[in-house]
Amino acid sequence: MIRESIVVTANPDGSAHIAPIGVIVEADALVIAPFRPSTTLDNLAARGVATVNYTDDVRVFAGCLTGRRDWATVAASRVAAPRLHDALAHDEVELRATQDDPQRPRLSCRVVHRETHAPFLGFNRAQAAVVEAAILTSRLHLLPRDKIAREMAYLEIALGKTAGPREREAWSWLVERIDEFYRAQGKEAS
Ligand SMILES: Cc1cc2nc3c(=O)[nH]c(=O)nc-3n(C[C@H](O)[C@H](O)[C@H](O)COP(=O)(O)O)c2cc1C
Repeated sequence: MIRESIVVTANPDGSAHIAPIGVIVEADALVIAPFRPSTTLDNLAARGVATVNYTDDVRVFAGCLTGRRDWATVAASRVAAPRLHDALAHDEVELRATQDDPQRPRLSCRVVHRETHAPFLGFNRAQAAVVEAAILTSRLHLLPRDKIAREMAYLEIALGKTAGPREREAWSWLVERIDEFYRAQGKEAS
């Protein structure tokens, strides 16, 4: 199973690096598989620790993909990496083994500590739609434009029916980024 999470690592200067990552859940490990090049990969390889944060604030997912990476963090309890201040829960992990790969290494981590900060209050379709739209936004250079348009139109139905203000704000950042991407491509082509 893959859990769409926010992985926080410490940069060389100690500041937080925040990235949405689909963390692979195995029986006794959490596997982080970053595509090269990746700051998360560099930080995790250098320091051997990270926090894996679980949040229903989808603005963090959309924000990280649209240049808004400045989310509040605090020190974790057991590892020398920050964690998201507003996560519902977080795991603190230590790197145990690396399966190297020129494109996408797999970093197998052991959970050494877990904390819960707030209750999970149920599924929301608009949140799921924003996460899907964030993944599409991270793949604009790989996917055909008509596929992006079709999938965004479908996801927008759930957004229209079930979103609150946070989901609408996150959605607007992604739509803006997609528009910018195709405007820039249009300029390149002309
Ligand atoms: C829901 C979601 C899941 C993602 N999962 C991954 C992943 O497993 N591996 C990856 O390299 N990037 C993933 N991305 C894209 C990264 O968030 C993005 O490329 C990020 O900047 C990682 O690079 P960095 O470590 O240099 O920050 C995901 C994005 C989203 C929105």
